[in-house]
Amino acid sequence: MKNILVTGCCGYIGSHTCVYLLQENYNVIGLDNFSNSKREVLDKITIITGKKIKFYECDMLDRDGLNRIFNDNKIDLVIDFAAYKAVGDSVINPVKYYINNVSSVLTLLDVMKDHNVKSLIFSSSATVYGIPKVVPINEECETGFTTNPYGTSKYYVENILNDLYKSDNNWSICIFRYFNPIGAHPSGLIGDEPNGIPANLMPYILKVASREFEFLNIFGNDYDTVDGTGVRDYIHIIDLSKAHICGIKKLEKEKSGFYIYNLGTGIGYSVLEIVKIFEKVNKVEIPIKIANRRDGDISICYADSTKAKNELNWKAIYSLEDMCRDSYNFMINNKNNF
Ligand code: UFG
Repeated sequence: MKNILVTGCCGYIGSHTCVYLLQENYNVIGLDNFSNSKREVLDKITIITGKKIKFYECDMLDRDGLNRIFNDNKIDLVIDFAAYKAVGDSVINPVKYYINNVSSVLTLLDVMKDHNVKSLIFSSSATVYGIPKVVPINEECETGFTTNPYGTSKYYVENILNDLYKSDNNWSICIFRYFNPIGAHPSGLIGDEPNGIPANLMPYILKVASREFEFLNIFGNDYDTVDGTGVRDYIHIIDLSKAHICGIKKLEKEKSGFYIYNLGTGIGYSVLEIVKIFEKVNKVEIPIKIANRRDGDISICYADSTKAKNELNWKAIYSLEDMCRDSYNFMINNKNNF
């Protein structure tokens, strides 16, 4: 498997994964519609790697555009990152999310089938577990009962992929359930740069660190956790991106199959712990205010990633200190955008 099509190649996870694919000498064909990413990311990937993605500006709902990409290139495997991901927005605009996150995957799968390309790595999320009954969460834990349309869109696609595999065992499908990716490439060139007011913790902390925002709202300090604030499994974007190389190798080795893996560190940190470590590592103060709980938030969520370790030989190695340092470095290097 040499020629990899990456959808959403300019986004946060897509861009980092492209860097490691290029460094591992894969030929990367990328598509993006820049709905939540910037064109300049392409140049930054080239600066980091000295290599170029063969890029197509294309929306995944555009069947003709997708057909053109598959006609122009002998694609071996697709990594599908392209999706909307703002939980709050999905509650307000569910149809937009189902069209963009579900219909587009159906179009992609249909085009893949037409071109006899049957290898796929799909970006899913820990959100498919809904409110976890136990932690750490392993892949056998029940899914569904998602708390927002974004999560439900990922849950639906997982089910669609399962049905597809049952209908035709020649497919090889790997689903990654990401926990909370933060951090950035150590070059400071690429990182998480959401449009508008960030919904996620680390991008918001960076806006406080850059003094664009005065303080961080901590959504609730009365959860049943170590200090009352929400606990999550934060994973460095480098570790997360590298897992995709392991996924490709797994699918290559097995020829066909349907696999699901959690990608997390297995360690949960509270919001207050993150703030303290961020302040210490970067020697910057992050003023906080305790606010009400955020609708749909859960108390504790962290992964059991033993399956990925055993079957993919993958393990997260970076610490929370590394994640905080690299996130801050990205902000400092891109001050104009913060
Ligand atoms: N938080 C704050 N203040 C903020 C932002 C977040 O206190 O300004 C808290 C949240 O309440 C939560 C923690 O920080 O306790 C992490 O929140 P994020 O929004 O960064 O991440 P979530 O765990 O809520 O959601 C993330 C992704 C989803 C994905 C989910 C999977 O955003 O896309 O992980 O578990 F579905």
